[in-house]
Amino acid sequence: MKEDHNFEVLHRKVAIIGLGFVGLPLSMMFIRKGFHVVGIDYDSGKISAIQQGKSYIQDLSDTDLADAMQSGRWQVSADYAALAGADTVIICVPTPLSPDNSPNLSYLTDTCARLSPLLTPGQLVVVESSTYPGTTREVVLPLLEKSGLAIGQQLYIGYSPERIDPGNTSIAFTAIPKIISGITTACEQKLNELYSQVFEHVITVSSTETAETAKLLENSYRFVNISFINEFAQLCDRLNINVWEVIQASATKPYGYSAFYPGPGIGGHCIPVDPLYLQWKAAEAGTTSRFIELSQQVNDSMPNYLADRIEQELQGGKKLTAARILVYGVTYKPNIADVRESAALPLIHTLLQRGAIVDFHDPYVQQIKLDKDTILLGVELTDERLEQADCVLVCTNHDVMPIERLIKHSSFIFDTRNAVSPALANRAGTKLVILGDGKATS
Ligand SMILES: NC(=O)c1ccc[n+]([C@@H]2O[C@H](COP(=O)([O-])OP(=O)(O)OC[C@H]3O[C@@H](n4cnc5c(N)ncnc54)[C@H](O)[C@@H]3O)[C@@H](O)[C@H]2O)c1
Repeated sequence: MKEDHNFEVLHRKVAIIGLGFVGLPLSMMFIRKGFHVVGIDYDSGKISAIQQGKSYIQDLSDTDLADAMQSGRWQVSADYAALAGADTVIICVPTPLSPDNSPNLSYLTDTCARLSPLLTPGQLVVVESSTYPGTTREVVLPLLEKSGLAIGQQLYIGYSPERIDPGNTSIAFTAIPKIISGITTACEQKLNELYSQVFEHVITVSSTETAETAKLLENSYRFVNISFINEFAQLCDRLNINVWEVIQASATKPYGYSAFYPGPGIGGHCIPVDPLYLQWKAAEAGTTSRFIELSQQVNDSMPNYLADRIEQELQGGKKLTAARILVYGVTYKPNIADVRESAALPLIHTLLQRGAIVDFHDPYVQQIKLDKDTILLGVELTDERLEQADCVLVCTNHDVMPIERLIKHSSFIFDTRNAVSPALANRAGTKLVILGDGKATS
């Protein structure tokens, strides 16, 4: 493994709890920087996959895992006892929503409850999971105080939001500025000591609440803007204006404008979830964010809007009830295998409920769960299936999407990502409708 440090490592042993999309790449980063890392995940399936050198994260290859193991500085376990002797414990467990859209902190509180009796003087505990302002102070701190250690003197606690962007290879993990905060000044200093060894830029903020809210602002900003551009795409459809050309033109402005692009909706573990954490906290304080509420409404309306548009465009006046739809791509963004909160799922669910026969193909996903009783298995992308489909619906434009094959063998493509070339489709005589292309007929 290529070592990437030329200093004596402080906080020599880092324990990382939760080895998912965040915790596993974070482990690799610390190992590369010369740290000893112990990874804890209560999912023993993940632990044995790592021990067998099998990566379950797209951004990491089996070779990355093998190299890390060969460094002799990586140990993984499902047993919290393995974190004995760690200078720092970083928590990267999920923070999803409960069925009523309120924060589900059970993974975090479970972690803290397991951790507390094992803590020893001098340790630093950092929460990196995304959460609402106040979590570190009001939820994590009381649980860790049960260790009996004095905060800021014997035990150091802080919050540092994780800003990783899975699938994005354009920026190195360590080049993403790292926001840090501590419960006390001494805690903050400990975080600074740790993270300034690995990140190029460390940004210290005055409280854990500020750091928690900074993450929620980033993701609420995306939530609101993506919903806005999806509504804008619907508007352009009705005005016979191509939204993609409009965005391209607006994006030439060198300041004051950031381009967002339409799509089937908002997906992923973070963007559709984090704003609702903020909304929950706002409600607790007797207020609300109307922008978040409205964005949620627009997002929720996308499956029916798209189902309507597809039905309008089906050839020969066919209805959805008689239509066979083949969906290409079900992950929430291209080139990853993550379907959590993916917009493709409610869209497929809606199409099925409206009577269509729906199959899906995704090179990274074998099956999807639409509700507690419905599991859909992926199909091979054969020429015959493309030919039989009344509509090939592009939900996720993976780089490996065989666009020319799709065009050659399909009679009608509905593209929610502006991935298919109108010129190519036109030349092949394939009907192509792109979300927001301004061609809605009613
Ligand atoms: N995925 C992203 O792109 C991303 C980006 C930034 C921030 N985040 C945030 O980071 C956190 C983790 O997200 P993720 O995507 O890595 O989740 P994940 O589901 O991929 O991984 C979490 C891991 O934690 C393990 N786990 C849960 N409870 C545990 C416990 N008590 N003890 C030990 N292991 C436990 C699970 O088995 C799982 O392997 C979330 O708060 C998320 O919002 C995620």
